[in-house]
Amino acid sequence: MYALLLATARTDLIDTFYQSSLHKPDLSVQIILVYSELMKDILVKRSSAGLGLFANKLFKKGDEITEYIGETITTDEGNRRGGKYLFELNGNWMIDGKDRSNIARYANHSCRPNASPVLSDDETQVKIFAKKTITVGEEITINYGPEYFNMVIQPAGCLCEKCTAKK
Ligand SMILES: C[S@@+](CC[C@H](N)C(=O)[O-])C[C@H]1O[C@@H](n2cnc3c(N)ncnc32)[C@H](O)[C@@H]1O
Ligand SMILES: [Zn+2]
Repeated sequence: MYALLLATARTDLIDTFYQSSLHKPDLSVQIILVYSELMKDILVKRSSAGLGLFANKLFKKGDEITEYIGETITTDEGNRRGGKYLFELNGNWMIDGKDRSNIARYANHSCRPNASPVLSDDETQVKIFAKKTITVGEEITINYGPEYFNMVIQPAGCLCEKCTAKK
């Protein structure tokens, strides 16, 4: 199994395989776990800004990557709850994407993003689309917008590729 993963150049999955072997010694269970990772379009992995979202297949410009899912709540309720996974739909409504099933919540901010969130015409849904070609292993990033950037990202220092590139 290690050799197979090395052959596919997915050394990150060797880590997954190793971690699963610690808890689930049954080889068939481990193979299913690794195979299910290989089949996913996007993966959550460590990035420069905590966990991040990564491409596990090639996305072309305009391809839909994923949807930002969660409970739709009023802006007042969102302000009461707080948290870093609130997505503003309009002046009245937000999506609280804190649930782990919302894999889109792991998309980090970039000042030169390769993906963008798009609001449906009825302002109830948000989907993330590729802005350009995104290759396997590339981190998928979006622009959080000036409000979130100025209040949260900038004060602590933006860790995106553009801002951390050596000048
Ligand atoms: C929606 S979460 C993104 C996923 C997050 N990295 C995690 O591990 O759960 C947003 C938070 O990620 C971090 N983050 C995202 N993009 C960042 C960036 N460019 N620079 C620094 N921190 C960032 C900030 O802590 C921000 O509040
Ligand atoms: Zn930046």
